Amino acid sequence: MDNYKKIIEEIYLDVKNVDDIGKVANYIPELAHIDENNFGVHLTSINKLSFGFGDCNKKFSIQSVSKILSLTLAYKFEGAKLWDRVDVEPSGNPFNSLLQLEADFGKPRNPFINAGAIVICDVLVSHLKNPKKDFLEFCREISDNKNINYNEKVAESEKISGFRNVALCNFIKSFGNIKNDVDDVLDFYFHICSIEMTCKELSEIFLFLADEQYINKKGESILTESQAKRINAIMLTCGFYDESGEFAFRVGLPGKSGVGGGIVAIHPDEYCITVWSPKLNKKGNSYKGMLFLEKFTTKTVSSIF
Ligand code: DON
Repeated sequence: MDNYKKIIEEIYLDVKNVDDIGKVANYIPELAHIDENNFGVHLTSINKLSFGFGDCNKKFSIQSVSKILSLTLAYKFEGAKLWDRVDVEPSGNPFNSLLQLEADFGKPRNPFINAGAIVICDVLVSHLKNPKKDFLEFCREISDNKNINYNEKVAESEKISGFRNVALCNFIKSFGNIKNDVDDVLDFYFHICSIEMTCKELSEIFLFLADEQYINKKGESILTESQAKRINAIMLTCGFYDESGEFAFRVGLPGKSGVGGGIVAIHPDEYCITVWSPKLNKKGNSYKGMLFLEKFTTKTVSSIF
């Protein structure tokens, strides 16, 4: 990995100049204000290599990347029982689709589409005394980073515009797969999506999925080896919605995107890499982020395949 820093810098400069055909997400009004030229990348390896380029220390809205963290905590609470509530199959549909829920009797295809993440939030609302406070505490403890917060403006902006999520939550509740009050579940979901982090912070917080020996400052491991394997597997097959196949094909790593333009990718036993560029392709994934990662795993010959 000695040459990774140089390779990342070269690809960063190369991709920075590429004409970006994507568009910043504006269906959550607060997200539309972002400077679309932001572009950052950061890699943290399990043996403590750490470097980044560009806007890697600027906070951004991690949006659906947070679904890895909510899934992790729900999995810790429920173990394999969790899969009775949410499946582990790629949906092949957009992240906010309602289409399959009727045929699947309210059981979402996977925890990374909005429907699945909302069910995961319901599981957490059942387990946590103060869901928003306790979840933030969990995130902060994983990588001993107190500087992780919700963005209330983004959460509020999504609350007033999140008609599809409101529909999804109510529809799933009609099948009995939401146990708590719909408003409480959605308020929690919107807050989780509003978490802000930098590329550097993201590449540190997800090291527990790369490093099977990972323990935090308190001496706690986050997941068992088998649980980490399963979350990586769901990221590989479902992390990019109806573009998950394309990401596996081009990049070849487990990963997860968010409509804030962030992408996290994991190389088990090696590293976690994060890219942020706000303009999204038609499937809602960062255009430059995907391009950067494709070039990176190709040049370093470091995909899992
Ligand atoms: O619920 C939503 O639509 C957003 N808060 C999160 C969607 C998202 O990040 C999907 N990502 N590609």
